[in-house]
Amino acid sequence: QSKSDHQLVLMHEFAADMYHHILLNTEEGQAALDYLENRGFTREIIEKNKIGWSLPEWNYMASALKRKGFSEEELEASGLGIPREQSSGYFDRFRGRIMFPIMNETGKVIAFSGRVLEHTKQEAKYMNSPESPIFQKSQVLYNVHHARSAIRKNRKIILFEGFMDVIAAGKAGVDNALATMGTSLTAQHIRQMKRFAQEVVICFDGDDAGWEAAKRAAISLNEENFKVEVAVLPGKMDPDDFVRENGAEAFKEQIIGKPHAFIAFAMMHARRHKNFQYENDLLQYIQEVLQLLAGRSSPLERDLYIKQLSVETGLSQEAILQHYRKLE
Ligand code: CTP
Ligand code: MN
Ligand code: MN
Ligand code: MN
Ligand code: MN
Repeated sequence: QSKSDHQLVLMHEFAADMYHHILLNTEEGQAALDYLENRGFTREIIEKNKIGWSLPEWNYMASALKRKGFSEEELEASGLGIPREQSSGYFDRFRGRIMFPIMNETGKVIAFSGRVLEHTKQEAKYMNSPESPIFQKSQVLYNVHHARSAIRKNRKIILFEGFMDVIAAGKAGVDNALATMGTSLTAQHIRQMKRFAQEVVICFDGDDAGWEAAKRAAISLNEENFKVEVAVLPGKMDPDDFVRENGAEAFKEQIIGKPHAFIAFAMMHARRHKNFQYENDLLQYIQEVLQLLAGRSSPLERDLYIKQLSVETGLSQEAILQHYRKLE
């Protein structure tokens, strides 16, 4: 790590401590603390994840970092300050947001994600640090430094969309949890995951975006020879919603404890928004599933899923198998 990278890490560490202090110990942080408590964040969770609050003032953090001796170049390179357009000086990127530090494998803060207290359509719900010499979004998975030992012990990764879900899962004792933070899963993410485990349970949000992202992630991970399972949420819930509604124990037992095999999930995905009364939907479904099977399945899996296809569609196993042989 170069000296300038080290400086950028120091700035993030300093900022994280300050945001955390403001959240926990000042009047200005009270509304955010109330919000977090309402969402079920305990003191312990807030401290473990070093969650904070950025003041709404325009240059509170920029001034503090300057007083601390960091230069304007460093302020800009860190992404914490943004140069003003009309005049000299810098303003804070993060203002009036709940601050979630993003840490590298050794637990050093390298970036932030900031959430607004009340989500309106006017501004983005989350604002993230820009790419910097110490933060490449396509390479970083949230919670790696906390989860590493639990992943090795369980030989399995539970993969979520966001840090709210990782934190919710923690309440259920699901500690082998990582999150992509809204981006799609990249080759670098997968390479990093490979170093820790060969098995993964994908647990993304139950909305359409979550289903699509889960399908893409499942295919990528399957291609990289992970054993892939997918845990599915009812309705449009996300893992954090489910934990708040049904409790951590139910989440662990009913959702994480009952994942679907890769192909079974892909079949559920292919059935979504299809109506088997329309022959086009029906034939397209069979085609999709058989293609998936032709790509990877063992003889046993092939038999199992062709049987299931036959039951679901009312077509004979022989006809389905014949069609399958043409794809193989
Ligand atoms: N995300 C982002 N920018 C946004 C929306 C989302 O970077 N404008 C990322 C965040 O890292 C977030 C993840 O995508 O953790 C999942 O998004 P979403 O499901 O919308 O957020 P939740 O984790 O459900 O957050 P909340 O419960 O606070 O709404
Ligand atoms: Mn989502
Ligand atoms: Mn979500
Ligand atoms: Mn939400
Ligand atoms: Mn959520």
